[in-house]
Amino acid sequence: MKRILAALLISAAAALFAFHRWRTGNIGAVQRGFDVASRRGCFTCHGPGGNHGAPNPGHGLGDVPSFTGGLVRMYARDEAEIREWILDGLTRRVRDDPEQMALRRDATIRMPAWRGLISDRELDDLVAFVKAVSDFESPDDPKAEEGRKIAQRIGCFNCHGPQGRGSALNVRAFKGYIPSWDGADFAELVRDDREIRAWILDGGTRRAYANPAARWFLERQPIKMPAYRGRLTEDEVARIIDYMHWLRAHPY
Ligand code: HEC
Ligand code: HEC
Repeated sequence: MKRILAALLISAAAALFAFHRWRTGNIGAVQRGFDVASRRGCFTCHGPGGNHGAPNPGHGLGDVPSFTGGLVRMYARDEAEIREWILDGLTRRVRDDPEQMALRRDATIRMPAWRGLISDRELDDLVAFVKAVSDFESPDDPKAEEGRKIAQRIGCFNCHGPQGRGSALNVRAFKGYIPSWDGADFAELVRDDREIRAWILDGGTRRAYANPAARWFLERQPIKMPAYRGRLTEDEVARIIDYMHWLRAHPY
């Protein structure tokens, strides 16, 4: 009897673990990077979400740089330099330039070197987050780039994360989060461009609402996909879809 009980408990635990892995397995690098940044305290100096750097008296370039507003592009030429900033608190390019070093001599706050304090996986996730939130890479196709700007302006990224690559928590949702546009579960919700349009214009597809289980979750979750019918023109919807295709071809 005891053995049967133990076996039952173990299989229940294994099933719960598998369910959790399945549910959260699609949370992407950008969302994980946001979580690492919160846990490691990056937002103390760089501001909530990396949006508002702290004043830094004595630094020749002003406040602690935010991750948003195009500053990362000024500080880092490429992804490798973002890694250098995080691991060493400085890039080689700045260290080798006396003028650049002079700007920093009297700074009150310094960027810590995180080497040895974060794992390789945490570093990869932080870089993905910093890149997404700073728009470090944007489409070279003008139609997709226009779509990105429309999505930003109308507020899609508030819920779908920077560049549409986040997965913010959403209690009571089937998976527990708002799916990103570059993640694997996008394809579960969206079969083709027609269904993307239905999500954008009506806040859901007929297919999703015809499924009683899916409908139950969609109606119960506090954060719902808004219906943008009448708020976006046909052209704007088409550009956003162009952007989604670019994004899915360039996942983080
Ligand atoms: C104690 C304050 C502080 C903390 C905490 C901090 N930074 Fe910084 N960070 C700075 C300062 C100051 C600079 C500018 C350094 C300079 O100009 O030499 C900077 C620069 C950077 C840069 C290059 C500039 C930019 O905005 O792209 C990156 C990337 C960066 N930090 C990422 C991080 C990450 C990731 C974390 C958390 C793991 C973090 N920082 C934590 C103070 C901080
Ligand atoms: C208030 C938050 C919110 C905003 C703003 C928002 N969405 Fe959504 N979106 C959601 C939620 C929640 C879902 C639901 C999915 C689920 O739980 O099944 C969703 C689903 C989607 C889907 C289905 C596929 C997927 O994996 O994401 C698409 C496509 C989509 N949204 C596009 C957009 C576009 C384009 C905009 C801007 C015009 C936008 N959303 C703005 C919350 C939002």
